[in-house]
Amino acid sequence: MTEQESSANVATRGTYPLAPQSGKSRQFLVCLSSLCHSFRMALSSASKERFMTYEIQESRLFTCVLHEHSIEIIDRVGTGVELPGSDPTTLTMPETDSPGRQHALSLDERDPLRSIRGEFVIPTKNEVTSKTLPSQGKLPGVQGHFKPIDNSPLPTWLNVDALAASLMAPIVGAQESEVAVMQTLTANLHFLMCAFYRPDRNGRHKIILESKAFPSDHIAVETQIRLHGLSPAESMVCIEPPAPHSPILTTDHILSTVAEHASDTAVLLLPGIQYYTGQLLDIPTITAFARARSIFVIWDLAHAAGNVPLHLHDWDVDAAAWCSYKYLNSGPGGIASLFVHSRHTVVASASAANPEAAPEDGFAPRLAGWWGNDKATRFAMDTTAAFRPVPGAAGFQLSNPSVLDTTALCASLEVFETTGGMGPLREKSLRLTAYLESLLEELPEDVKNMFHIITPRAAKKRGAQLSILLTDDALLGPVMETLEARAVIVDERKPNVIRVAPAPLYNSFTDCYNFVDEFRKALESAGKGTQQ
Ligand SMILES: Cc1ncc(COP(=O)(O)O)c(C=O)c1O
Repeated sequence: MTEQESSANVATRGTYPLAPQSGKSRQFLVCLSSLCHSFRMALSSASKERFMTYEIQESRLFTCVLHEHSIEIIDRVGTGVELPGSDPTTLTMPETDSPGRQHALSLDERDPLRSIRGEFVIPTKNEVTSKTLPSQGKLPGVQGHFKPIDNSPLPTWLNVDALAASLMAPIVGAQESEVAVMQTLTANLHFLMCAFYRPDRNGRHKIILESKAFPSDHIAVETQIRLHGLSPAESMVCIEPPAPHSPILTTDHILSTVAEHASDTAVLLLPGIQYYTGQLLDIPTITAFARARSIFVIWDLAHAAGNVPLHLHDWDVDAAAWCSYKYLNSGPGGIASLFVHSRHTVVASASAANPEAAPEDGFAPRLAGWWGNDKATRFAMDTTAAFRPVPGAAGFQLSNPSVLDTTALCASLEVFETTGGMGPLREKSLRLTAYLESLLEELPEDVKNMFHIITPRAAKKRGAQLSILLTDDALLGPVMETLEARAVIVDERKPNVIRVAPAPLYNSFTDCYNFVDEFRKALESAGKGTQQ
């Protein structure tokens, strides 16, 4: 079905009256067959008799806004069911609902975190495809750095980064002063390497990373090595997966590579969770092993932050960087973060110890800017005063952080606080992903033959994500097209991998059920296409 064909049936817009006291306005992206379930949850005061029956044959995706006395159907995706225009029709749970979906709904009903979904505005398919942006209000200018904003709970701009760091620290298991919310992920990896990769051609000059590292990490490492006048051929060590037909790395294999190059390696850079396979590496074991050999250990936590519990301080990690547009909900290109262990961010009073010492003798050298400078003198505009960093990770900041970005991120981080932190989220995440996996495994054999899951099966070796490898590369295009037409948002990695990550903050068991249902149909139809 093309976008045009499907949109002929989209935009069935109508308002469907409900009885009074029905509940507050809320947005839902739901399957039609689970719509009434959502009603029941949202309109707990409304009794079932108030709904008139509406026949539902099949699940459809809708966005519904619940108003005081009515439900507004804003959008629907797919074909077949005609909604009555102005008929005073309401919806009840369909008789035809499958036991599988009923089970998913009952899991959702028992989910202690189910109300968190209400904190998110889930966009409709049209909003996603038209890339609608929220309208922007005008923000106070430079005054906002110091003056509190009237009637606002927000901190002054000068302190907005500190608030973000304090909310971020528990998510990654860091002390507040060990985290800075700043820049972007690749930029932060560069800043960390600029400070801590000090290669010695005749001593430690190598950086170890994995051969399938995210391409940006590869480029960052390669260019750092060249920046120091060295060659990647000699100074870059790539860990290959040990088994020829599996992309999975084993801890033993990583440790043996580190041991082999230990004497001339300066830095080890690895992903907490591998972006392609979803594999969670054993961060504490690998960190301890490399540090015991005097190697500086940096973790790229793009896919781990907000996904799995981390204890960066207690694990003695040297440094880490992560973006916030995966599990931390900031939106593409949103502001990123870095972690530097407190042992590397001391700012000693060099003058007292040694009056002759250059100012930078009291702290780790770095690429710096005014935002890393001591807060008390930052706005003094005195170019004769030497740079004196804020102790802690904040001393690695360079520029004014984007207040819009940072404030939006804080709103998301506050939701993490509401859930009780990473513990309850991980608990739900383990159940959601295991449920998704079991549904995929229960698919009929002929469908199951069309894919396999490459993510490790052991829960402690993965986060939320399952990476599904399609056995025929030709399936990816048609499967993604069908899923998109059904408003199912997953990620593709060409030539043949689909990454599915139920996020425990806002995804439900019913979402997993619906995904597998749509995935099965997409595979069946793509399979027919490839056989022709
Ligand atoms: C594992 C990993 N590293 C690095 C990056 C690059 O991030 P950025 O473009 O924010 O620098 C990404 C982006 O998706 C990523 O997934």
